[in-house]
Formats: sequence, C-alpha cells, structure tokens
Amino acid sequence: MADKATLTIGDKTIEMPVLKGSTGPDVVDVRKFYAESDMFTFDPGFTSTASCESKITYIDGDAGILLHRGYPIDQLVEKSSFLEVCYLLLHGDLPKADEFEKFEHNITYHTMLHAQFDRFFEGFRRDAHPMAIMTGAVGALSAFYADSINVDDPREREISAHRMIAKMPTIAARAFKYHMGQPFVSPRNELSYSENFLRMCFAVPAEDYVPNPVLTRAMDRIFILHADHEQNASTSTVRLAGSSGAHPFACIAAGIACLWGPSHGGANQEALEMLEEIGTVDKIPEFIEGVKARKYKLMGFGHRVYKNFDPRATAMQKTCHEVLGELGIKDPLLEVAMELEKIALSDPYFIERKLYPNIDFYSGITLRAMGFPSKMFTVLFALARTVGWISQWKEMFEDPGRKIGRPRQLYTGPTERDYVAIDKR
Ligand code: SDX
Repeated sequence: MADKATLTIGDKTIEMPVLKGSTGPDVVDVRKFYAESDMFTFDPGFTSTASCESKITYIDGDAGILLHRGYPIDQLVEKSSFLEVCYLLLHGDLPKADEFEKFEHNITYHTMLHAQFDRFFEGFRRDAHPMAIMTGAVGALSAFYADSINVDDPREREISAHRMIAKMPTIAARAFKYHMGQPFVSPRNELSYSENFLRMCFAVPAEDYVPNPVLTRAMDRIFILHADHEQNASTSTVRLAGSSGAHPFACIAAGIACLWGPSHGGANQEALEMLEEIGTVDKIPEFIEGVKARKYKLMGFGHRVYKNFDPRATAMQKTCHEVLGELGIKDPLLEVAMELEKIALSDPYFIERKLYPNIDFYSGITLRAMGFPSKMFTVLFALARTVGWISQWKEMFEDPGRKIGRPRQLYTGPTERDYVAIDKR
C-alpha cells in the first residue's frame, strides 16, 4: 500500500502521509490539509473519517469480526467474565490471577453509593424514564465524589474509573426499583458483579432472593456483548467531551445521553416494541412493505460498520434461547423475530442495503424474559458500555498528542449584511 496520498486541486498538488494500522484500513493523515489547501475535508456522519488512533477494539464490518484487545468476542463471551473483560479493556491484557483478584476487590468495594445520593432519585416522578434518571444521576456523581475528578492525577483517574464501573449497577438497579415503586436493595460484597446486579434489581423484602446461575451467566454475557464497540456515537461523544478536560463522570453522562437515541442504544427498546406491534408472524409481510415504503425502519437491523452479521447478534440469539429455555418461556415474539430475520435476509431490499440483525434485535426478548421492562433495556446497555467509554476516555486522555476536538464546517448561510431597524424591514 502507498505511504503517501497526492491530491491535485487546480494547479496545487498536496501530499499527505498514509498511516498504517496493525490491521484494517490505512488512513490518509489530513491534519495539515487545511494549512496547505485553505480547504476543509467534508464528512458529516464521519462515514469515511477516523477520529483517533486506538488499541482497544477492532471491527471488520464486512467479515463480521469484533476483537477486544485482539480477543474475538465469541471467545470472550464463552470463556471470560464481564469483570475480566473490564480489566482487559482498561489495561490491554487479560489479568493474571492476582491482578484480577485485586481488581475485583477494588470494584466490589466501590459498589455502594453515598447515603445522601439515594435522595437524588426522589426528585424524579415515579414514571420518569429510567434513562432520564441515569443521565441525571451519573451527571450528579461528581457532586458526591469530588475527590476523584482531578483528571491530571493518574490515581484519581483510576479511582473514578473503578467508581464508574462499580456504581453503575447500583445506580441502574435504583433507577429500576424507583420506577417499580419498590425499596432499594444494597449491594452485597460476597456476590459476583452480575449476581449482585440481579439481586439489587429483583430482591424484595418479602422473601429471600435465590440467584439463578443461568440468568446470572446470561446477564454477564449480555454485559460482555455491550462492553465496547470502537468509535460509535456515544463513545465519540465521551471522547469529544473528554478532549476539553471534562472529568469522567461528566463525560460518561454525555455518553449516556447520546446512547439513548433510537438509532443507537435506544434501538433495543424500539426493536422489542416493534416486535410487539407486529404481534404475529402473519403480520410480517405487511410490516416489511411499510419498511420498504420508508414509513419506518426495521429496528434492530442495519449498522454503520457491519455489512454482515453483527457477531454480537449471533451470541445474543444463543443467549436468548438459553434464557427462554431455562425459564420455560415460549415467547411468541421470538418466533416473530426469527421469521422476520429469515424474510428480511432473503428480501432484495435488505440484501442490497446489507442490512443484518444487530445486537439490539434479540436483546429485548432476552431482557424481557429476565423480568426487565423495555424502558430498562438502554439502561442495561449504558451499564455495560461504561467500561468501554471509560477505557476510550482513558486512552484519549493519556495520549500525549491529545488536542481538544474542534471540527469545522461547510458554511452555506447568509454572507455579511447590515442590521435593519424593525420599522425598515
Ligand atoms: C447500535 O456504531 C455502533 O457500533 C453502534 C452499536 C454499538 O455497539 O455502539 O453497534 C449499537 O447503535 C446498533 C444500531 C442500533 N440501531 C438500530 O437498530 C436502528 C435501526 N438501524 C438504522 O437506524 C441504521 O441502520 C443505523 C443508524 C444503525 C445505521 O445507519 P447508517 O449507517 O447511517 O446507514 P444509512 O441510514 O445510510 O442506511 C443505508 C440505507 C438507507 O437506504 P437508502 O436511503 O440508501 O435507500 O439502508 C437503509 C437506509 O434507509 N436502512 C434501513 C435500516 N437501516 C438502514 N432501512 C430499514 N431498516 C433499517 N434498520
């Protein structure tokens, strides 16, 4: 591959270096392009733009490959645990036994929230969307943990990373309990990360909580599948917020706000509600016609990067069958989802546009079977993605070449004109 790119604009020739990655597409380094051409590159939606250099996650959209620090997602889902994947994303390698034990202890002993923080939830209406609560609660964390927001101190950066990973399940479970009108449940240090979260969500004072190892394993796998995903919209939001020197709690709150969008993390709620609206298999052809007529999109389908199966969707479908099997649930929506997938994957409209199921297509059926209402689905996505956001933030912040993100624009508005008094307009 060439080591430089040449662009001729009129009578001017501009040479730009080509930078090579360890795998995947090379990049044309345009950092000096404006200085040399007095022009900007133009790429709304960043379909052809690499915003940063990263060593964390690699996606090959055509081959349907997802690697975290080089490890394939299907191996991590089968052989690892969410907390071990957290260590991998944060530190770059799988931990040795003593390293993991120390990491797990640090996370476990940061799961509690300041007692005053619980009163924060009472400011919301009971019917508030749990994502509204998450956005507000995480944004407020710096008001309670101001001793770890000095981003220039590596130790404070590490503590805030641990606090975020540890406290998100407690905050998410409180958002769920508040929404349900049930009392909050405190974390227990003897439980594993996912078991602790499920107990905080589903334990009630009226009876002892009996963990279900199949559901605990399914929850852990779902967290692994959502942990990180290269420079997606919410991760790019976190990086841009962090580039100004904003502390991690503020950056994660910005990421949560972005994730909520229906085209991004909000799609898991939208996908289940779409399946509920279709209702039965015989209604699928009519629904597909509506998609082709561009009345609405097929939620849980399509992806900016994957133009093949999202490897996470395959693992999610397997987990979905395991959970429904364990609970003895015959959810008609699973049949609708599988028939919809089969029809869509054989229809030229979807084939031409390379639209495949993404991670959100089967997650909703699984989470509903586990007892979560659809409004909690994106909260669970945010809980899992927090480690990806904080790992990407850490990588951005520790880059010696870090600069504040400040894109330019193609201006097509009015050119300069003089003010006109109101009685002359
Ligand atoms: C996530 O980036 C990430 O990695 C995100 C994520 C992560 O882990 O962080 O993977 C999580 O957000 C998964 C995606 C969840 N969103 C949805 O399921 C919502 C439905 N999907 C679409 O909104 C869409 O597919 C996007 C937003 C995901 C991707 O959109 P793109 O890359 O901008 O593609 P596009 O809109 O340019 O679509 C190309 C064509 C268009 O048709 P034409 O105008 O060329 O005729 O495909 C069509 C689109 O209309 N299309 C769809 C479709 N998605 C794209 N048509 C019907 N149903 C869909 N779902």
